[in-house]
Amino acid sequence: MISESILAETAGFLSFTDLNRKEANTELEVETKSMLGQYMTSSDIASFMASLFPEPTKKTIKLLDPGAGVGSLTSAFLDRFCTKKNKFSIELTAYEIDSVMNKYLKTNLALFEKIASEMDFNFSWEIVDKDFVIEKSRKLDSLNSLFKEDVKTFTHCIMNPPYKKIKSSSRHRTFLRKVGIETVNLYSAFVALSLLLLEENGYLVAIIPRSFCNGPYYLPFRKFLLSKAAVKRIHLFDSRNKAFKEDKVLQENIIIGVEKGGIQKDVIVSTSTDDSFSDLFVYKYSFDKIVKKEDKYFFIHIPSSSCDFEDFPDKFNFSLSDIGLNISTGPVVDFRVKEHICDMPEKNCVPLIYPCHIKNGAICWPIKNGKKPNAIIFNSHTKKWLYPNGFYTVVRRFSSKEEKRRIVAGIIEPDLLGNAEKIGIENHLNFFHDNKKPLTQALSKGLCVYLNSTMVDEYFRRFSGHTQVNAADLKLMKYPSRENLVKLGKWASEINALSQEIIDKEVLKISK
Ligand SMILES: C[S@@+](CC[C@H](N)C(=O)[O-])C[C@H]1O[C@@H](n2cnc3c(N)ncnc32)[C@H](O)[C@@H]1O
Repeated sequence: MISESILAETAGFLSFTDLNRKEANTELEVETKSMLGQYMTSSDIASFMASLFPEPTKKTIKLLDPGAGVGSLTSAFLDRFCTKKNKFSIELTAYEIDSVMNKYLKTNLALFEKIASEMDFNFSWEIVDKDFVIEKSRKLDSLNSLFKEDVKTFTHCIMNPPYKKIKSSSRHRTFLRKVGIETVNLYSAFVALSLLLLEENGYLVAIIPRSFCNGPYYLPFRKFLLSKAAVKRIHLFDSRNKAFKEDKVLQENIIIGVEKGGIQKDVIVSTSTDDSFSDLFVYKYSFDKIVKKEDKYFFIHIPSSSCDFEDFPDKFNFSLSDIGLNISTGPVVDFRVKEHICDMPEKNCVPLIYPCHIKNGAICWPIKNGKKPNAIIFNSHTKKWLYPNGFYTVVRRFSSKEEKRRIVAGIIEPDLLGNAEKIGIENHLNFFHDNKKPLTQALSKGLCVYLNSTMVDEYFRRFSGHTQVNAADLKLMKYPSRENLVKLGKWASEINALSQEIIDKEVLKISK
């Protein structure tokens, strides 16, 4: 008998399934693994996926888990919704074609039923050990004939479907065509069929390859998806090999959350490097940033951070590491080193640079009677936060509401800081450095001019859901080559007054 204490020990349904998943993985034949696309979801990803469903409004959740494997996704779904206080019931239909998986799935679901009943929660289940695509398209097709079969519909669907190309002449394609689905891979077939099986406002969460988002082969599927459902959530794993790392699957995966027949409003897009979700960024975009209004190919555009540089000029295609630079957030957090901070420079002090010290792109220091202090004592406690005095390009992390630009860059110039040996950079600034050392004058100027151009600001704005400029965003951004930045810096040194118009013209010139 499974008691609640065991349930607590196993962190609910999830960890049990996770153990089974690993065990089942060792039993799978290499051949069937690739033929049936048997790459199972880790409990962290499964939980994240389950968290994307909105709170249920119906008394009965009819859940579909097509290609259920050992039941990892169902277990995450139960882990989220099967609680003593939830009074709805869950009826699961799991499709799983493979006998090894089926054995584990059956054990898991029987166990879940027991756990649920101990919690007075209604959970019932059935496993269908048939080919989901053939079985469901056949049943749906029967609705157009005299011999109509019962077609069960669902309110929720969670899936990690198999990934496998399906040839134009295959049985799968023939069956799918009968129900109006034209697609080239099993994963998109699973999604399309499940959409047909969902009730109005039914919700589907799927982890699938990103490949359907563009390219001509997936155009019919994109049209199908976007005509049947509203895209509510997109999660992108930044790293191609991290989502299914145990199986060494190398492809970009995304998680989508869609509502059948829903009204298409803004889309919440999140990113994380991997399945630890430790660096989860969440942004909101209007739908026309995801699928452009005039795009007849319905490409699904996923901004990978607050910036997306897909159609940025080719000449601005260099990463920060390509140009040998680093970006950091100012390490001096003033309230943590209060006792070492001075209003005005004194003996044993070095300059402390706040955003207010950057005016029109240049340094203005010290500011007498200003709101912010101007210096920090240089001692054994503070020295780890300080950098050698020199040229650095800085970018404000927070622009003020009245500021027209999102990216506001400036330069720290050493000779305007009394030629101090060290400087402190406050936490409201991001700054570019060369492995903790200053940049050359020309490079820091060129970088500053580039960042202050309208082109960069517009790109940033287009994809940024908030006013904050993170070091992570600047790290992901694209830049001109180091050579071009230096050129831009040298050019800027010879111009007396740099207006926005002059900057924009010159940046445009080097983009071509
Ligand atoms: C990518 S795995 C995912 C398993 C599970 N959903 C998970 O997230 O761990 C896909 C599963 O679908 C099963 N499968 C493959 N083709 C199928 C089909 N045509 N009908 C039903 N199940 C299928 C495979 O055996 C495999 O267990």
